[in-house]
Amino acid sequence: MSIIKVMNKRTSIRSFNTEDLSSDLLDKMKVIIIKKRSGPFGSRHNFSLIDINEKKLNELGKMTSYGVVKGARYYFAGYCDPDDRSLIDFGYCFQEVVLELTELGLGTCWLGGTFGRSFIAKALSLPDGKVIPAISPVGLPLGKRTTTDKLVRYIAKSSNRKSHDQLFFNHYGSEGVKPIGAEVENGPLSKILEGVRFAPSASNKQPWRFIFKEDHIHLYWDFNEKYNAAFKSFNIQALDMGIALCHLIKSTDELELMAGFIDEDPQFESIPWKYVASLKNKVVV
Ligand SMILES: Cc1cc2nc3c(=O)[nH]c(=O)nc-3n(C[C@H](O)[C@H](O)[C@H](O)COP(=O)(O)O)c2cc1C
Repeated sequence: MSIIKVMNKRTSIRSFNTEDLSSDLLDKMKVIIIKKRSGPFGSRHNFSLIDINEKKLNELGKMTSYGVVKGARYYFAGYCDPDDRSLIDFGYCFQEVVLELTELGLGTCWLGGTFGRSFIAKALSLPDGKVIPAISPVGLPLGKRTTTDKLVRYIAKSSNRKSHDQLFFNHYGSEGVKPIGAEVENGPLSKILEGVRFAPSASNKQPWRFIFKEDHIHLYWDFNEKYNAAFKSFNIQALDMGIALCHLIKSTDELELMAGFIDEDPQFESIPWKYVASLKNKVVV
């Protein structure tokens, strides 16, 4: 299936079918989860499959999702250093897993807040100085959403996405940014815009901002000081930036428009956001 279609199909699943997975599906799921991956900034990540029915893990205590997730037996999780670049790479790699599992027909849900960290820390034998930024349940979707799921989606306004003029910009020197014009919106990059717009983000805040300039797409972070400070040891929105990079790179790649990843701030004037990274593509705007 086209990766852009997978991005559009993915939605957070919090209600799972409790029937056993076939051994074939279980094997495919395991291969995806434990595969070693590396992010655009070069840090390597691999994730562990956690079977909460496993006797040995049961002895560690109880997995809690504060009632948000129902019926999931399997979760995947990993850890990383707490700096922004490691978290961006973690977000990128974790989202790769999410997309590959979605393609298999499996449901997932990024959980950065609503899970008990101590059980997962014990299950992963968390080394000193590392953080567990997020975990996800994985399994066959139940097919309908529970009341709690509906409530979480209502609070986060999960079905909404910011409009193009809130996310995609051109840059005009000292005048700063202005929303992109119809020539970008309807041109060869339009599928990429939709791919990144439907990415998941913590509390659906969508902190990604994209500036289109000549043959470059620059990614910026509309950093929310208060929201990031709520997670004491790391910036949760760095994961969102990794997810956005994952959608940006994979959709550009699929359309054969990718011409390189760039880690150098163009130092544009009058930008209210934090620079993350850029992509060189084959379309000049
Ligand atoms: C980094 C991150 C952390 C998240 N943490 C939680 C969480 O703790 N609990 C939860 O129910 N959903 C969580 N979500 C899911 C978002 O609420 C969801 O992606 C967003 O509302 C958009 O909905 P969608 O994924 O169905 O498109 C998280 C998503 C991301 C990307």
